[in-house]
Amino acid sequence: MKSLFERCYQSGKKLTDKTELLAQELNDSPPAYFDGLNMTLLEGVKPVTKVRLPSGEIKEMLMLGSNSFLNLNWHPRVIEAERNALDKYGSGAGSPPLYSGTTDLHEELETELAKFCGTEAALLFPAGYSGNIGVLSGLCRPGDAIFCDSSNHASLYDGARLSGARVIPYLHLNPKHLERCLKQSEEPGKLIATDGVFSMEGSLAPVDELVRLKEKYDSLLMVDDAHGFWAVGPDGMGTASVFGVRDKVDLHYGTFSKALGSVGGFCAGKRHVIDYLRYYARSTFFSSALPAATAAAILESIRIVKEEPEHLKNLKRNRNFFQSELEKRGINTLNSRSAIIPVLVGDEEKLGKLQMALFDAGIFSNIGTTPAVNASKCRLRLNVMATHSLEQLNFAVETIEKLAKKFQVIPA
Ligand SMILES: Cc1ncc(COP(=O)(O)O)c(C=O)c1O
Repeated sequence: MKSLFERCYQSGKKLTDKTELLAQELNDSPPAYFDGLNMTLLEGVKPVTKVRLPSGEIKEMLMLGSNSFLNLNWHPRVIEAERNALDKYGSGAGSPPLYSGTTDLHEELETELAKFCGTEAALLFPAGYSGNIGVLSGLCRPGDAIFCDSSNHASLYDGARLSGARVIPYLHLNPKHLERCLKQSEEPGKLIATDGVFSMEGSLAPVDELVRLKEKYDSLLMVDDAHGFWAVGPDGMGTASVFGVRDKVDLHYGTFSKALGSVGGFCAGKRHVIDYLRYYARSTFFSSALPAATAAAILESIRIVKEEPEHLKNLKRNRNFFQSELEKRGINTLNSRSAIIPVLVGDEEKLGKLQMALFDAGIFSNIGTTPAVNASKCRLRLNVMATHSLEQLNFAVETIEKLAKKFQVIPA
């Protein structure tokens, strides 16, 4: 049986057949997880956050549903930096970077990011999603080939398709299959694109193996470490640094929307590649720049990660504790090695019930199902933050165990 969103997408002939069907299905028999997609936060994300439910009820919930892993969105230095920049630069950039959208703060941030990645240059994008669209469609064109891990984030696939290059998905975390695909490809322009930390399961791409293959097959390697930078590896330097190959990656890609709790994306690499993208990545050329106040907040967050090691230390302690406690109870966390800890459920109905029961118990979680992952591998997607206490995480573990038994996700 296809999931609701698959059925509606494929249904009917006229453009509005599917929109009417979705509206009707959501009205008549919404899936159990639907409420979870329609929560409204009444304040910024904290370990316990005030949330308004679709029913109108307001509840304080233990927040396990935010990508703000270091929870720096509340750090007093970040808020002060953003306030000061607002006083000087006002609220918005008003133009794309190559018109009048670049301030000294944007330049400083690009320099800082190039240093962080150990590269010559970096380029900012107004969002992580749009940056991937710009990089891939700017760099690749028909006649090229883009090799994508099958679990890559949607923005890598969307950018790859838009480029007109041949998009070649390879089996998830499977360098052997990638090698077969590379061997068969006759395109002279080859790019391997992968998530660093996979966003729906928290596992890491084998970047050392990907480096070996990109060298053997004369390809470029792009690692999108949206969930890895400032969260994974020594000093938060990301997935490639876990494998000791940071200097071998051609294009480092990251976002400010996860560990740093802000917004925006960036790409870092050789100066001639980055400068080319300034003109050819249409999602920066034709899009207004990040607000300068956002650049100020991001710069301050990056300084904090360097100067206050306790944030990374607490994140590591929390994710290790949470994952090992869940696994001790027989819960499948899909080999996560990051602050994204999934709970595999594999049945959308059970998943919906489990998530609802967690909301009732005061725990905010996300789910992963179609279109992000196949419904047969649907899961809870839980995110740990540096600011959670072990008591809060322990409460979550015990509640998840109890409810997973109740809904037969694990044996009672
Ligand atoms: C790997 C990856 N790349 C890009 C993005 C998009 O980033 P943003 O949410 O900043 O637009 C995400 C978001 O989850 C992601 O997981």
